[in-house]
Amino acid sequence: MKRIGIMTSGGDAPGMNAAVRAVTRKAEHEGLEAYGINYGFAGLLAGDIFRISSVDSDDIISRGGTILYSARFPEFAEEPVQLKGIEQLKKFGIDAIIVIGGDGSYHGALRLNEHGFNAIGLPGTIDNDIPFTDFTIGFDTALNTAVESIDKLRDTAASHERTFVVEVMGRNAGDIAMWAGVASAAEDVIIPEKDFDVEAVANKLKSARARGEKHGIIVLAEGVMTAAEFADKLKPYGDFQLRATTLGHTQRGGSPTAFDRVLASRMGAYAVELLMQGKGGLAVGIQNNKLVTHNMLDLFDSKHEADMDLYKVAQDLAF
Ligand code: F6P
Repeated sequence: MKRIGIMTSGGDAPGMNAAVRAVTRKAEHEGLEAYGINYGFAGLLAGDIFRISSVDSDDIISRGGTILYSARFPEFAEEPVQLKGIEQLKKFGIDAIIVIGGDGSYHGALRLNEHGFNAIGLPGTIDNDIPFTDFTIGFDTALNTAVESIDKLRDTAASHERTFVVEVMGRNAGDIAMWAGVASAAEDVIIPEKDFDVEAVANKLKSARARGEKHGIIVLAEGVMTAAEFADKLKPYGDFQLRATTLGHTQRGGSPTAFDRVLASRMGAYAVELLMQGKGGLAVGIQNNKLVTHNMLDLFDSKHEADMDLYKVAQDLAF
C-alpha cells in the first residue's frame, strides 16, 4: 500500500481537521502518501482529489469545520455510482481510504469495502450517536458550546425570573441534551430515549421557584420536538415566563476542545495502522479509553444506547 485517501462526509464536526492532520502525518511518518478528497463522496465521484502533505495540515488542529469540506450524497447508495467512485480512486493510485463521518458515511465506506476496496470509518459527528464508541469526534466541543450558551441564558433567565426551553442538537440521540443538562444544572432534561410527563416537568419548575430559584432551564433534545412546541405544552400548567431558544448550528462550529483534538489524533493514527495491516470494513471507536474496532456491518444492526445512569443523575439532582 502506497497511497491513502481521506475524506470527511455528512455533517461537519469540530475535530475533523485534527483527524485529517493525524492521518496525513501518520501516513508520511510511515512512508505513505495521503490524498485529500473534497466534499465527501460527492467529491470522490467528481474526482476532486489532491495530494495532501503535512505542510497542508500544519495549522489545522485548532480549526473548526473541515478543510476537506463535506457533503451529504445519498446517490452513493447506487452501485454504478460506487463503481465510478472506485474508478476515480484508482485513477489517483489510491489503495485504501479513511472516511470520517456519521452513519451515512459509514454506509458509503462499507459499499467501497464490498467492492474490494479497504475502507476504515472514524466516528465524526457532534451527535455521539454511533454504536460501539463512548465518544464521537466533535461531541465534546458541541457539548461545551451548548453549556456555554446555557450558562448565558441562565444569567438573563434569573434577571427576569424566566424559564428557558433550550433545544440542542443530537438528531435522534439525547446525549448532547443529557450531558449539557447535567453540566448546566438544568431543572430538567428531555430526551427522545425516555418518555416525559409535562405536568411533572411543570411541577419541578414550580418547586424550584418555591425554593427561591430565579431561573428555570429545560434542556430539550431536538429529536423530541422543537423548543417552541415544548413551551406550548408547558404553558397551560403555570405562568413560567417561558422563552424558547434553539441553539442550532452554533453547536457544529468552533475550535475543537483538547479532548476532541486528542481523540481525533488517536483515531486518525490508528486508522492508518489498520490499513497498513491490510484491514478494511472496520469502524474505529473508543471504549473505556481504549481504541477498538468493530465490523461496520455490526454497527448497522445495533443502536446507540443512551446512558441511563447519567439520565438518572440528571433527574436525581434536579427536583
Ligand atoms: O448530525 C449532525 C447534525 O448537526 C444533527 O445534530 C442535526 O440534526 C443535523 O446534523 C442538522 O443537519 P443540517 O446541517 O443538514 O441542517
